[in-house]
Amino acid sequence: MKRQIPQKVVVLRAIPENGIAALQKKYRVDVNRSGHILTRAQLLRRVKNASAIVSLLTDRIDDEVFVAAGDSLKIVANYAVGFDNIDLQAAERHGVVVSNTPGQLTESVAEHTMALLLAVARRISEGDRYVRRGSYTQWEPMLLWGETLIGKTIGIIGGGRIGAAFATMCHNAFRMRVLYSDVAPCVQLERFTGAKRVALAPLLRGSDVISIHCPLLPSTKHLIGSQQLALIKPTAVLINTARGPIVDERALTAALSAKRIFGAGLDVFEFEPSLVPGLRQLENVVLTPHIGSATSGAREMMADMAAANVKAVLQGRAAPNPVTKYANPCRSLDN
Ligand code: GLV
Ligand code: GLV
Repeated sequence: MKRQIPQKVVVLRAIPENGIAALQKKYRVDVNRSGHILTRAQLLRRVKNASAIVSLLTDRIDDEVFVAAGDSLKIVANYAVGFDNIDLQAAERHGVVVSNTPGQLTESVAEHTMALLLAVARRISEGDRYVRRGSYTQWEPMLLWGETLIGKTIGIIGGGRIGAAFATMCHNAFRMRVLYSDVAPCVQLERFTGAKRVALAPLLRGSDVISIHCPLLPSTKHLIGSQQLALIKPTAVLINTARGPIVDERALTAALSAKRIFGAGLDVFEFEPSLVPGLRQLENVVLTPHIGSATSGAREMMADMAAANVKAVLQGRAAPNPVTKYANPCRSLDN
């Protein structure tokens, strides 16, 4: 009897071993362990004849990749909740399923958003730099004043899983009033926090904290530009843990530099991993290197989820976490 050759699964960067081990039980797994993002040419070579690709947010997956992989390709399992790196229309044309990894990541990103918010509002990074460089020589009554959060208003842009989890933390911990903007009403968010759905302009004008949790789509690129920044209160804090290009980073840098808003916390950047000129020198911004989901719980679970999506599709079942170009970002919290 002829032995069937196991199907090939290409993993574009080393992800946590639990995910790789789960795939190795059934498939021929080719993992890029170089420690580097594959160049375009390497990527196109590597995916040839693959039945599944486990991609990362740093890999652009488009028509050229589907063509290079060939007819064997059944699924691209993105190791991320965001999927703006994947051309969903091209995937549909090639009959390839795309999946993502929501779940435990939700709380990890919401917690990181809270960490950035507190760091900006209470000037933690600035204070840390002040102490380290030896500037703390005497207690000062007027040193490094921040903004309190209790009872203030938070504006959530994108009321999906992460936005709702973060809003709930703000509401429960700081009795914050919640406004949100989304393409659709978010029942869970409203139920948990009494949130009110408003258009973007009133949200920007009325909020003391503005936090971005929508996906990057053509319609959300530069959603926050100079016109929108001009609407924000001078005492307000802007946090972005979603995707960099949702904010016009040059306009934000200008606003922060002119102290037109109190501060910003950024985990993502428009031209990641580069920063626009001038941003790095500012004291009123806290910068982290896209680590919102970087907890062992979240990143290991994401590896399990990516593997489970690959297995389901290669065994002829539906992917547990499919994404489609019709995806409604506003889903229930426990989804
Ligand atoms: C991280 O940015 C993700 O989309 O999971
Ligand atoms: C501050 O440390 C205070 O005691 O007020």
